[in-house]
Amino acid sequence: MVVGAERLRRKPYEKRLFRLQAELVKMQEWVRAEGRRLVVVFEGRDAAGKGSTIKRVTEYLNPRVTRIVALPAPTERERTQWYFQRYAEHLPAAGEIVLFDRSWYNRAGVERVMGFCTQEEYTRFLHQCPIFERLLVEDGILLRKYWFSVSDAEQERRFRARLNDPMRRWKLSTMDLESITRWEEYSRAKDEMMIHTHIPEAPWYEVESEDKRRARINMIAHLLSTIPYREVRRPPLEIPLRPEPTGYRRPPRVVTPVPDVTEDP
Ligand SMILES: Nc1ncnc2c1ncn2[C@@H]1O[C@H](COP(=O)(O)OP(=O)(O)O)[C@@H](O)[C@H]1O
Ligand SMILES: [Mg+2]
Repeated sequence: MVVGAERLRRKPYEKRLFRLQAELVKMQEWVRAEGRRLVVVFEGRDAAGKGSTIKRVTEYLNPRVTRIVALPAPTERERTQWYFQRYAEHLPAAGEIVLFDRSWYNRAGVERVMGFCTQEEYTRFLHQCPIFERLLVEDGILLRKYWFSVSDAEQERRFRARLNDPMRRWKLSTMDLESITRWEEYSRAKDEMMIHTHIPEAPWYEVESEDKRRARINMIAHLLSTIPYREVRRPPLEIPLRPEPTGYRRPPRVVTPVPDVTEDP
């Protein structure tokens, strides 16, 4: 299953991950205190491990500061807009981090391969995308792009695992199945996309994702290494003394209590 390296064992993985998550908290505080804007794009084939990495990134973060954007397929109305418009709506304001679980790169991947866009729309995308990203970066947005890379055999293994696991079955879509039959078309689409969009202002970083644990650690460590954050001192807080009671009496209960089911079989 894992090429080159042993699968990272759970204990060292968890220890490493927790340390990185502590750094992510510091990074988030820095973004907030300095009013910076950070965009992280998670791309890659179906089942490459984007979603589960995003979960680890956000685990200890503040949902009002760090948002996940995972847009559904565009509506009829959205189809008539400028392609980048519906993504631009989700870009961060000062002090915010936005994680794109798939992004505008859909046009160069699934839309290209599945024929959801015209040749003309596709060509226009390859032309506009680097311009769009340069505008973001020029405006001061920190933009990071990660490509999660998985082999055909491992992708299929993950699809089968999803199929047989009631907790993961929802992740398996008809699009996913097409990504098996159209593996090579996706490969070509990715190669072409990289040629046009791996630009100095916003380079792609490839995450070897055959071992999910390694991928998560390496991606988060790399992201942190590219952000010039430092620990922000928080003003010291003191828990106040509780004032003397002034005679409040609790009225009879009017709301419905949630039953305690914890002793049920
Ligand atoms: N008709 C469509 N037009 C454009 N994009 C689509 C269409 N159908 C699906 N997609 C996109 O294809 C991507 C892959 O689909 P899917 O495998 O269902 O989701 P995901 O892999 O993100 O969990 C999604 O980003 C989805 O929005
Ligand atoms: Mg999918």
